Amino acid sequence: MKRSGKISFTYKELDKPEELEHADRELLMSAIKAAGNAYSPYSGFMVGAALRLASGTVVTGTNVENAAFPSGICAERNAIANASANYPGDKPEALAIAAISGRKQTPDPVSPCGNCRQVIAEEELRHTGNIKIILGGSKKIRIIKSAGDLLPLQFNSDSLKATPR
Ligand code: THU
Repeated sequence: MKRSGKISFTYKELDKPEELEHADRELLMSAIKAAGNAYSPYSGFMVGAALRLASGTVVTGTNVENAAFPSGICAERNAIANASANYPGDKPEALAIAAISGRKQTPDPVSPCGNCRQVIAEEELRHTGNIKIILGGSKKIRIIKSAGDLLPLQFNSDSLKATPR
């Protein structure tokens, strides 16, 4: 039998950080600040990520590049690794991402790469709750209610349990 399907999700867009609720605005400011600490001499693209945990703690990460290019890591995964190592059990609730290119915050929001989507999605599953994603460009801010929205039909721990037919 043939079947078809459709997957879609909704997001919100704002023009400026002042339109964000207070905690999210602070989180985005932390991401922008973190971006300034990026180590990205090869791409010149500086990314900052700020993760807010249920306790209110904010943990940040930046991209850290390497002369052996694949050894570099993205800001989002650095923030998650930092939170996982230092605040185990403190559930991530929101993640803000911002980037600086040519000394300026990018006008358009930067979306997490595929590897990071996979890792953020697993954080949602292990802590059973949505992680709100706040993508901050200087001209546009996009808000997505769950990392899962960015990774439909995801591979996860359930996939490992699938029995062959
Ligand atoms: N990068 C991130 O840190 N996060 C993203 O969401 C996209 C890309 C980094 C990886 C690399 O250091 C640089 O940005 C250019 O791709």
